[in-house]
Amino acid sequence: MADTPRRPTIGVVGGGQLAWMMAPAAARLGLPLVLLASPDDAAAALVPDVIDGRPDADGLRALAAACDVLTVEHELVDLDTMEALEAEGHPVRPSAATLRVANDKIRQRELLAEHGVPVAPWTVAADLAGIEAFADEHGWPLVLKRPRGGYDGRGVWIADDVDAARAVVDEVAGEDLLVEPKLPIDLELAVLVARRPGGELAIYPAVETVQVEAMCREVVLPAPVTNELASRAEEIGQRVAEAIGSVGMLAIELFVVDGEVLLNELAARPHNAGHVTIEGSVTSQFENHLRAVADLPLGATRRRVAAAVMVNVVGEEDDPRDHLAAGLDVDDVSVHLYGKAARPGRKLGHVTATGPDVAGARQRATLAARRLTGGTPA
Ligand SMILES: Nc1ncnc2c1ncn2[C@@H]1O[C@H](COP(=O)(O)OP(=O)(O)O)[C@@H](O)[C@H]1O
Ligand SMILES: [Mg+2]
Repeated sequence: MADTPRRPTIGVVGGGQLAWMMAPAAARLGLPLVLLASPDDAAAALVPDVIDGRPDADGLRALAAACDVLTVEHELVDLDTMEALEAEGHPVRPSAATLRVANDKIRQRELLAEHGVPVAPWTVAADLAGIEAFADEHGWPLVLKRPRGGYDGRGVWIADDVDAARAVVDEVAGEDLLVEPKLPIDLELAVLVARRPGGELAIYPAVETVQVEAMCREVVLPAPVTNELASRAEEIGQRVAEAIGSVGMLAIELFVVDGEVLLNELAARPHNAGHVTIEGSVTSQFENHLRAVADLPLGATRRRVAAAVMVNVVGEEDDPRDHLAAGLDVDDVSVHLYGKAARPGRKLGHVTATGPDVAGARQRATLAARRLTGGTPA
């Protein structure tokens, strides 16, 4: 593989909020970005160099021709082309092999169990009989998941009984489903790991992620767990990054069940759980993603504040841009609005507050996020 130039042009597949948040970090470091996106995407407002295309063979080849290193901000990429580009000598970071694991909840479980990463019981079912057999062993309710392409809880169903499971089987029409017991989760954590091509790692302290209806709503730094549990989560993060050979940011979503840390899933890119690092950490996940992908020294991952809380601005009826003044009227919050059209259930932005304690930061970030969605001022 060719050496990375000292100041590589980084080609990003995608133009959503993750690319939008990479842009200021790239500008600060003087690293040129080129996006494969639609000119209507959020990040196209910040990055002048946009290749208008899709992440298919043509789009990816056009991007590769315009950059020194390819990376991604979402998973829906033609991996055969990524693999071919790699074979032709284009640096692809993370690699197509890493993306194949990160894009598939079944492969994650198979591979990582071999590496000693603790995972809850699971099976793959192609039909209702397979689900019922698992329920005979583990009981109802179960959680059924599409192995690929889901996000924000789209592709995750809780089935209380066989009728509910049948409805899901009908909906996915013959696709395999990942089946798990519905776990009695104490809390959810995420660990973020930046990794360079040579293997140098930087691990962020574990954060707590709070989900509402299977979508991330809130992230708390530091996670309110014992040092021992946080270290356990961070060790799992490192083991996963090494097992799948990630390059760039890797997010590992974890469950805490009965005091044990279990793997939930991975994302080989910057992640919603890491937005809190923009204000809360010495180096943001976006900057460390670019540093890692460009094979530059990684930045420190430690907290630079006692506490930071991020709350997502999730679309309701109103456009948060129309409520900007009300959101900004909350003292000491950082508002990030992605410039996306408002739609119910869509992540449109986030608010982060930092301070001496989690409770105060949470209160301010929650208030600002509520005002931005048109909620009554409290
Ligand atoms: N086995 C399970 N038991 C209980 N809750 C679960 C289980 N699996 C997922 N969830 C809940 O659903 C959320 C979304 O599931 P996840 O597999 O991470 O899907 P997505 O790809 O949409 O993020 C999790 O963060 C958790 O809150
Ligand atoms: Mg998830």
